[in-house]
Amino acid sequence: MLAFVTVRLTPARSFRGRFSLAGDKSICHRAAILGAVAEGETRIHNFSSAADCASTLRCLEALGVSVRREGATVVLRGRGFDGLHAPKADLDAGNSGSTLRMLAGVLAGRPFQSVLTGDESLRRRPVERVAEPLRRMGARAASTDGRPPLRIEGGPLRGISWEMPVASAQVKTAILLAGLQAEGHTTIREPARSRDHTERLLPAFGVPVAIDRTTVSVMGGTRLRPLELVVPGDVSSAAFLVVAALILPGSEVRIDNVLLNPGRVAFVDVLRAMRGDVSMETTCSDPEPVGWIEARSSALRAVDIPPTWVPALIDELPALAVAGCFAEGRTTVAGAAELRLKESDRIGAIVEGLRAMGARIEERPDGFAVEGGASLRGGAVRSRGDHRIAMALAVAALAAEGATEIEGGECVGVSFPEFPGILREATS
Ligand code: S3P
Repeated sequence: MLAFVTVRLTPARSFRGRFSLAGDKSICHRAAILGAVAEGETRIHNFSSAADCASTLRCLEALGVSVRREGATVVLRGRGFDGLHAPKADLDAGNSGSTLRMLAGVLAGRPFQSVLTGDESLRRRPVERVAEPLRRMGARAASTDGRPPLRIEGGPLRGISWEMPVASAQVKTAILLAGLQAEGHTTIREPARSRDHTERLLPAFGVPVAIDRTTVSVMGGTRLRPLELVVPGDVSSAAFLVVAALILPGSEVRIDNVLLNPGRVAFVDVLRAMRGDVSMETTCSDPEPVGWIEARSSALRAVDIPPTWVPALIDELPALAVAGCFAEGRTTVAGAAELRLKESDRIGAIVEGLRAMGARIEERPDGFAVEGGASLRGGAVRSRGDHRIAMALAVAALAAEGATEIEGGECVGVSFPEFPGILREATS
């Protein structure tokens, strides 16, 4: 159930601070799932504080995995894929599409029945894109009119060669997780390269992965060895702080120990193309690039974001829409229809919210166009229960005139529970 709490924000004069964030959500889902099916104790330091990652841990526990928290470290005791047991009840992924889709890949190869479900938002999102390839591999997977609940009856799998119609790292990961349990090779080709955390983590767990541009393959039957891992800070959370610093005068922010995976930092390139004063540097690279990002107040210029840039920017588009409101000229986004299938219809939600604050923003089937330079005013807006919409509108609210009330603003905890505290600390 989504609870709607109204969060009130007042304008800020500036945004300043130096932060180190909890572990990247995308990496934590994967590290926890792989640790759960490895043989031995996996220790994940700086584990994500996101409610989404807690959903993954809860589902793994329901599958019989021992999960222990020691402060910000999560310790999982894996006993291989065979160590997983049939859950006693439906597996509740909460708001987390990653949890549901990735676990579907694990469960496809397990000799028991399970049902994956989630909250109202997740039960509106498509799952056939993952169910279909899993059925091809030999699993029974039945969705409910294309959506969760997803009932899976797993069993022996055969490797497949799968051409993905849409680039999706969640679907790619699900097929790879099934492929690890299948006979022979599993090969996946994407229309564009989506985030590659699974491909980077698998070798660290002892599983060879072959990658050729947009094709990735694994061989079934390899056992996973456990891992000790320090997760870099969540770069998608960092994006909101970077945009806040760019659009507010007299601002400067630095984020240390943050993930700088090239498939995740495309928003930095876009903001630089908008003449944003943003710099970053990688300080170490194994298995993921990690470093720092700095941003300072800037006079932004509009940019056109073409479809080819979208897969590496998908979660940052709501924040970039806010940057567009403060840029000179017309900022456009095309080829982002996938945004309508996220935790909310993110195109509809961001257009509605920013327009209510006075932005000149036009909704398009596959994106939006925003005319910068109109000063924003506070008002009553809706998050639609979507954490990234709530945070984007909150950043806009800091630079608006007058107070803003965000209905459902508490949902930021889905990915970034520290966000409200950081806003209080960094604003003046
Ligand atoms: C994610 C992949 C993306 C992204 C989501 C996290 C991941 O979704 O929007 O927030 O960790 O693999 P898709 O795979 O559906 O594009």
